[in-house]
Amino acid sequence: MKVLRTPAEVHSLRDELRNRAVTVGLVPTMGYLHEGHDSLLKAAREENDVVVMSLFVNPTQFRAGEDLSTYPRDEERDLAIAGQSGVDYVYAPLPDDIYPSGYATRVEVEGLTEVLCGSETSRGPGHFAGVTTIVAKLLNAVDPDVAYFGQKDAQQATVIRRMAEDLEFRTRIDILPTVRERDGLAMSSRNAYLSPEARERATAIWASLLETETVFAESGLDAALDAGRHHLESAGITPEYFEARYPGTLDPADGEGSDPILVAVAAKVDGTRLIDNILIEPERDNRRKP
Ligand code: PAF
Repeated sequence: MKVLRTPAEVHSLRDELRNRAVTVGLVPTMGYLHEGHDSLLKAAREENDVVVMSLFVNPTQFRAGEDLSTYPRDEERDLAIAGQSGVDYVYAPLPDDIYPSGYATRVEVEGLTEVLCGSETSRGPGHFAGVTTIVAKLLNAVDPDVAYFGQKDAQQATVIRRMAEDLEFRTRIDILPTVRERDGLAMSSRNAYLSPEARERATAIWASLLETETVFAESGLDAALDAGRHHLESAGITPEYFEARYPGTLDPADGEGSDPILVAVAAKVDGTRLIDNILIEPERDNRRKP
């Protein structure tokens, strides 16, 4: 496995790979790898000749006051995991190489980025501008056939798909299922912040989404959202948002009809901000009472 540090090194790798006519899979990460990343790396390994993983804690997707400076980092460990997962190249640049002096361009997806995590009371729309800017730069530099992201960041997935389509990136965007701990907590690098007590309480997040799904089947969407929020609040967790949206447009879901519904939640547990979601498929369940 080779570690690349600069855009120039990635560009010359890409030239070489183009000459060899191989397929390339990209797994963008901010490091502190867990089994969720591992599932993306596995898929990339199975489906491509060459696997590139980026490792970059992207400063532009953090708001002032968020956890940029304390975001968990352990490059040595990440490189070891990447090596074991069959990654061929890790691209681990420094912020100054990605955003050199004079850098002035932002990629923004309108409409999808002002709700949920993008609302002013959450991370703000600038969060997604940071994400789409770095992902656009990575897609440009690596020019992968496929790029892999996780469903845990459901809104990010929708926004990146929109951007890739709008900007005519020819990369296929693959979204893979959320990987969970045995008790249901979604894998996240930020889980490392949780005390044992907070870790235990955080299981209420996934449980509240399961509760929402169950109540939806019996009593419809409004009752389901009330039940989910109540479940979370009973565990002493106040959601930043707990909302039902249609996954492609992120428009509010009304629960009528057969379209899948994304129920997404963000909540702080003892100061650690966690997100999760569930996709409810009314048609498949079809257990709803009239
Ligand atoms: O999901 C993440 O880890 C980040 O948002 C991403 C896609 C690597 C961009 O920094």
